[in-house]
Amino acid sequence: MHLTHLSLTNFRNYVRLELSLPDRLTVLQGANAQGKTNLLEAIHLLATARTPRAAAERELINWLALESPLPYARLVGETGEGRDAEKLELVLELASNGGSNGPVVRKQVRVNGAARRAIDLVGRLRVVLFLPEDVDLVAGAPGERRRYLDIALCQIAPTYCRALGEYNRVVTQRNALLRQLRDFGGDQGQLAFWDGQMAEHGSVLIHRRGTAIRDLDRLAADRHAGLTSGSERLHVGYLPSPDPDVLIGARSGAQIAAQRQRLAEARPAYAAVSQDEVRERFLAALCGSHAREIAAGASLLGPHRDDMAFTVDGRDLRPFGSRGQQRTAALALKLAEVQLMREETGESPLLLLDDVMSELDEIRRHALLDALAGVDQAIVTTTDWGDFSPELLGQARTLRVERGTLLLVEPVL
Ligand SMILES: Nc1ncnc2c1ncn2[C@@H]1O[C@H](COP(=O)(O)OP(=O)(O)OP(=O)(O)O)[C@@H](O)[C@H]1O
Ligand SMILES: [Mg+2]
Repeated sequence: MHLTHLSLTNFRNYVRLELSLPDRLTVLQGANAQGKTNLLEAIHLLATARTPRAAAERELINWLALESPLPYARLVGETGEGRDAEKLELVLELASNGGSNGPVVRKQVRVNGAARRAIDLVGRLRVVLFLPEDVDLVAGAPGERRRYLDIALCQIAPTYCRALGEYNRVVTQRNALLRQLRDFGGDQGQLAFWDGQMAEHGSVLIHRRGTAIRDLDRLAADRHAGLTSGSERLHVGYLPSPDPDVLIGARSGAQIAAQRQRLAEARPAYAAVSQDEVRERFLAALCGSHAREIAAGASLLGPHRDDMAFTVDGRDLRPFGSRGQQRTAALALKLAEVQLMREETGESPLLLLDDVMSELDEIRRHALLDALAGVDQAIVTTTDWGDFSPELLGQARTLRVERGTLLLVEPVL
């Protein structure tokens, strides 16, 4: 589904924006701090109901608007054409919650004019966004990688998204029970119900993550070979919790080492295991870990503890990769995600690349531009027109952003 039009009101430094978008490539140029990333952030927010940057939601509302009596930001995206056309609308409203915690941001979502839940936005306009800080996907904490997987898979599969919501709710409630059992004692039999719920919803997540990462491994290796002229072999691997090879017990140092060894040998976890089988194994692992979980007052096993790892030629990129290697791996992963979405949904997502060229050497730039040729719709930002060839710019819509205002321009080379 293409994004054909974007309207923004009071979103970050865009007080008012009306932008029509072409099918193919848009290149957005601007100096630092003019609104390049903000524009991509707005599109990501409309597509996923989540901000890509770990910002507080009230930061999204324009500062001047925050001083008005009813501060709000409004984002509207139009997608598709003819009978497939849809209008996606998200309003962020700063509202007093009546309590002492100060104002909260309320999200209101409409699809074709009808009120919906935020989760109903997801999957209508699929996007893949690459930001400079996405190097942290490889180098950062496991939570970043789980967030990445969740955003990608929610866009692909509504069942995943529903299971994720249920799973998170179950973990919160099970944790509360574990804390209660730790602090006040009581009947441990109460855990059985929550074990069942956790295994039920968690197995959807584990199974889906397992197959997606197996596919991403294949696709990213290809992209990565292109980016590195075939000189390095990338593996993307799933480090699930609980480990399928060890039924009982949380991940110890030795287990993590074993998982990484399996990864180095490119044996995907849960590869040939059905979802029912995953559920059974997960349930067995949960039943065997009650004592430790009560002592900890927290759920120690499950996809909320998952991780994924990136290796190049058998070496783990997190501790050993150079910054450039980590960045290239993250970029290969995102390009693989574009292809995964196309394979899974039959449609190419909108690719959003923020300031990616400046960090790449000449070979990687060429490979990236080759990859762009296979994408239906893309928006790419840059500070410098010189990052792109005149031929490519000749085929693109070229825009310039200055302090939250967009202008159609001829690139200055
Ligand atoms: N809520 C807000 N209201 C008004 N302005 C904001 C708000 N949030 C951020 N800004 C401003 O938006 C400006 C543009 O930010 P953005 O991150 O899009 O810049 P950029 O063009 O991507 O720059 P760079 O090249 O440095 O990455 C910044 O000056 C920032 O201070
Ligand atoms: Mg930026």
